[in-house]
Amino acid sequence: MLKIGLIGCGTIGSEIARAITDRFSQEAELVALCEIDEQKAKDFLDTLVKKPELLSMDELIQKSELVVEAAGGEVVAELVKKCLDKEVDVMAISIGGFIGHEELFEMVEKSKSRLYLPSGALCGLDAVKAAKISNITRAELITRKPPKGLKGAPYLEKQNIDIDNIEKETVIFEGSAKEAIKAFPKNINVSALLSLTSIGADETKVKILSSPEFTRNSHQMIIEGDFGHIETLSENKPSPNNPKTSYLAVLSCIACLKQILSRVKLGT
Ligand SMILES: NC(=O)c1ccc[n+]([C@@H]2O[C@H](COP(=O)([O-])OP(=O)(O)OC[C@H]3O[C@@H](n4cnc5c(N)ncnc54)[C@H](O)[C@@H]3O)[C@@H](O)[C@H]2O)c1
Repeated sequence: MLKIGLIGCGTIGSEIARAITDRFSQEAELVALCEIDEQKAKDFLDTLVKKPELLSMDELIQKSELVVEAAGGEVVAELVKKCLDKEVDVMAISIGGFIGHEELFEMVEKSKSRLYLPSGALCGLDAVKAAKISNITRAELITRKPPKGLKGAPYLEKQNIDIDNIEKETVIFEGSAKEAIKAFPKNINVSALLSLTSIGADETKVKILSSPEFTRNSHQMIIEGDFGHIETLSENKPSPNNPKTSYLAVLSCIACLKQILSRVKLGT
């Protein structure tokens, strides 16, 4: 039984917890939860038949063989370093937290831990990984989200963009993946993973559009290189509890966990 500790029981974390306690009950055990909102944690634990302990991050790492981060980019660097120290594996979904902390990958390579980053709301990363074995010359992401999928982002306030009052399809942001993550830390994790898999956060281009007519979070990925040209489009339904988070991202985390627990690996 793989002992799993979970950081954050929000939209994604709560579904991961349920997957561990139900779907993967033969292979894994949810031993600990760390959640900054104590009331939310208690309410959530009340819904589980087999309850994990509610612990601090340090205590959780001590009890776990795999720590799953579903909390936010700001916890990523500290969490990964602490897990490496204790030789504990990590699965992180707030991929934006790695941008500007790329040294973490080298640290993981030198450690006894494994790091898993699920593909989240993006499709086509299997092919990007294959393409990277040779040479990638262009990586671009065009994201379309309804206004509520971008609401609260620091960039909107800084640029005085009243996202609730846009009337037609509007380009909200254009820049590098590095700039996109800073501008929209909770909305564009996919650009971080695409850039880490391809040509880096400075070179990967990101465009974000919004419109009151959009009902889905769509991600169009364009990759060019020695292999040729790839263009993918995922049209994701937003999660009912958190419109910033696509439902596919939740499913991707559960699929990543399934892969960790399985001896068979499909795809690149
Ligand atoms: N990789 C992807 O494609 C992708 C897609 C969607 C969301 N995400 C990221 O995944 C993360 C979780 O998304 P969500 O929709 O579940 O968000 P959410 O806001 O619903 O849940 C986050 C939870 O973490 C808790 N939390 C925050 N800081 C914490 C801390 N320091 N310690 C413990 N708990 C803490 C919050 O109280 C909340 O319950 C976010 O960072 C989001 O940006 C990634």
